[in-house]
Amino acid sequence: MRDPLDFSRTDKVQIVEVAPRDGFQAVKKQIPTTTKSRMITELYQAGFERMEIGAFVSPKALPQMADIKEIISNMPDDKMKGASVLVPNIKGAELALAAGIKNLVYVISISESHNQNNVRRSTDESFADFEKLISSMTDDDINIRLDLATSFDCPFEGQTAPDKVITAARKAIQICSDVEIGICDTTGRATPNHVYQLFNRLMEDVDQNPYRWAYHGHDTFGLGVTNALHAYYAGVRIIETAAAGLGGCPFAPGAKGNTATEDLIYAFHKMGVETGINLEKLLETSDHISEIDPPSAGGRIRTLLRSYVLA
Ligand code: COA
Ligand code: ZN
Repeated sequence: MRDPLDFSRTDKVQIVEVAPRDGFQAVKKQIPTTTKSRMITELYQAGFERMEIGAFVSPKALPQMADIKEIISNMPDDKMKGASVLVPNIKGAELALAAGIKNLVYVISISESHNQNNVRRSTDESFADFEKLISSMTDDDINIRLDLATSFDCPFEGQTAPDKVITAARKAIQICSDVEIGICDTTGRATPNHVYQLFNRLMEDVDQNPYRWAYHGHDTFGLGVTNALHAYYAGVRIIETAAAGLGGCPFAPGAKGNTATEDLIYAFHKMGVETGINLEKLLETSDHISEIDPPSAGGRIRTLLRSYVLA
């Protein structure tokens, strides 16, 4: 096995910024659309190439995401290439494509009870709709991502068996050969060894391509950065985080904020891993994002003396 701490074959890691979706969805008070669009612009200025800018979900289920069309219409054309949205069903995908989205993130939970709570259908029904969606797609330019929620742990069922994740990942690839698969720690209860072992198995048993996989984690127990680094040690090169550590699935009781992007970027830069992100600019943006809902903002380095962090 490759030495996980040997970064000599390091490829640049892709950080997918998810504050505008996973972060903002956890804020109860409606955030003005202009504020959301301004934050998205600032995040792009910090250097992100990929960003989840919102979701096409039922406005009754998640009112915070109801302004996604306006957010898209405020997006500069050149940024649409890397902008993705989460969709829970075929209707969401159709609306997203009609709005000009090029990157769809379809979500299915590994655990039956979280899938029911999140999208009100069984995992089999969600997979059947995913298959229908893929077979109906005619545009080769659309990138498909499947987020496998509760891949480590479910708020209702406890720890998730790795075999279930392997089976779901194989099924997803059968349906869509070039799908990118997000392995999501929805609750933040994953541990570093679990993250490392699951990705090793996925790479050995399903696909060795590091860009097949993405890791999406939360910082509920303060393990967010460590878990993301263990995904990286296992070979994963796409990692999702949210600036200022906002976030959490409203349909996963107990789940807390995302791993703060700035904390992970700091760790990567100190380790010599390139991210393409300007940390100073990101910290300014994270400050602005934290002001949207100060009690739910997280992360560590944002609170430290700036000159110390940037030295
Ligand atoms: N976008 C916008 N509206 C949608 C929609 C979508 N993707 N899917 C359904 N709707 C609308 C329907 O048109 C219908 O509207 P109406 O009441 O005005 O007629 C209403 O929502 C209910 O539709 P239905 O198909 O019966 O859905 P449901 O009530 O069973 O809810 C979901 C299923 C998936 C739409 C809903 O649970 C949802 O949006 N969940 C999102 C979960 C989420 O975002 N979680 C966090 C991220 S993981
Ligand atoms: Zn999340």
